[in-house]
Amino acid sequence: MADTRPVGIFDSGVGGLSVLRALRARLPHEHFIYVADQAHVPYGSRSLAEVRRFAEGITRFLLTRETKAVVVACNTASAAALHALREAFPATPFVGMEPAVKPAAETTRTGVVGVLATPATFQGALYASVVERFARGTRLLEHTCDGLVQCIESGDLHGEAPRRILENALRPMLTAGMDTVVLGCTHYPFVIPLIQDIVGPEVRVIDPAPAIARQTERVLAARAALNAADAEGRVTCYTTGNPQEAAAVMGRLLGEPVAVRALAWKGSALQEPSR
Ligand code: DGL
Repeated sequence: MADTRPVGIFDSGVGGLSVLRALRARLPHEHFIYVADQAHVPYGSRSLAEVRRFAEGITRFLLTRETKAVVVACNTASAAALHALREAFPATPFVGMEPAVKPAAETTRTGVVGVLATPATFQGALYASVVERFARGTRLLEHTCDGLVQCIESGDLHGEAPRRILENALRPMLTAGMDTVVLGCTHYPFVIPLIQDIVGPEVRVIDPAPAIARQTERVLAARAALNAADAEGRVTCYTTGNPQEAAAVMGRLLGEPVAVRALAWKGSALQEPSR
């Protein structure tokens, strides 16, 4: 039996579209509801408790849309809330992000790996546990790339500002012998061409999105919750910011035109303004 319910997916802004893009490629028959919490972007400089409250509010909204699973397409929200979300909503399967330190540690030849992620992600227990489990014997060089999320939110993927931020982060890592870069923030896959230009073709840049899409497929298949193979999946996007401004950037990043609807926070709840 086909399960026509949508999959929910969210991020602080447009970053989770790097995951949605991989999900659309892997699961073209599924419907998706994407929430960009642009009223609160960036999440990365906020406290984990605050980000957890946002993640819970967004999840409650997604569940009013009958979502059959929720993809937390944000490393920061996963660090802050994944555990709490699974406890608070036990009937819903959640797929979350963690920096891809494991595949990096397995394949690095120099033993030096760069990790780009937000301050909140680096502070969370999830990152500490990944490092503890998988990075023994690997030297991890961490950088928070302050301001890069805002560049990507405004659609600046190639300009002077993102180049300067990335050069500051990556050049010292190269000098230290780094041969692998882990993208621990879902915004960053959108600047892979710029990163690759700075680090050169020999350095491996790990985008976790395809692995998250495969994991989502496994989770749905295990619950017999995939949609019919002849269905044509749809994407519905919401933002807590300005929907007109968001539509152009979101369509460009996702690689397909999207209509973006408005959502507003009322205390800790999200509501769709009556149209
Ligand atoms: N895209 C997010 C992440 O993966 C959040 C970035 C931010 O809002 O600071 O961490």
